[in-house]
Amino acid sequence: MNVIFLGPPGAGKGTHAQLLMNELGIPQISTGDMLRQAMKAGTEMGLSAKRYIEAGELVPDEVVIGIVKDRLAADDCKNGYILDGFPRTVKQAEALDQFAQIDVALNIALADEVIISRLSGRRVCLKCGATYHTSTMQGEKCLNCGDPLVQRRDDAPETVKNRLAVYAVQTAPLIDYYAGKGLLKTVNCEPEATVQENYARVRETLGLK
Ligand code: AP5
Repeated sequence: MNVIFLGPPGAGKGTHAQLLMNELGIPQISTGDMLRQAMKAGTEMGLSAKRYIEAGELVPDEVVIGIVKDRLAADDCKNGYILDGFPRTVKQAEALDQFAQIDVALNIALADEVIISRLSGRRVCLKCGATYHTSTMQGEKCLNCGDPLVQRRDDAPETVKNRLAVYAVQTAPLIDYYAGKGLLKTVNCEPEATVQENYARVRETLGLK
């Protein structure tokens, strides 16, 4: 299955993509994680992406289209993949159409007020990309690799507000884009539900047995 996870910042794209990756054995391709790794490594691309990410703006289309095109050509994508955070503009979606065959675009919907509280409590492992929340995490270290958990700089409240505004203008039009192609499915993640309960909804919406 070649699936896109759409949805606003903090909707749970990364959390549910990791669960689906573990279940189906197909890679999660997160452009946000790839860009953060490039920032950490201090590459030229990472340095140029840093100012956009920390301001809550999108990195230029040409940069992300290039990294996703290269990534999808890798052997581990032959049996399917989960695109997490790409495409994010209509231009990216049109480019993706030239080099990929998408089966489903899953829109994960969540209200803005829930998003702000989720992102303020999010902690991440910069080494393996695992995501936690202060309300449920056990200790300050990653359960997968033992690295310290940190708060992302772009999870500061003012930056989150800008990310939501950018999402509304530049990314939300993709809902109509994929609906028009007959590929859109929507899952409403309940704010009070646990991750596992919401993941069950994601599975059901994707038609997994
Ligand atoms: P990216 O890393 O993709 O950020 P994002 O889309 O804003 O998404 P997030 O990672 O913030 O949220 P998520 O939906 O994955 O939620 P999560 O699962 O963590 O991108 C960062 C930046 O990179 C962008 O702003 C941009 O600058 C750049 N970029 C990336 N891709 C780009 C592109 N294609 N084009 C241009 N620029 C690009 O969940 C959030 C929290 O909620 C966690 O703490 C989690 O534990 C918790 N949680 C999740 N589900 C539940 C639940 N059911 N119950 C309770 N808690 C839950």
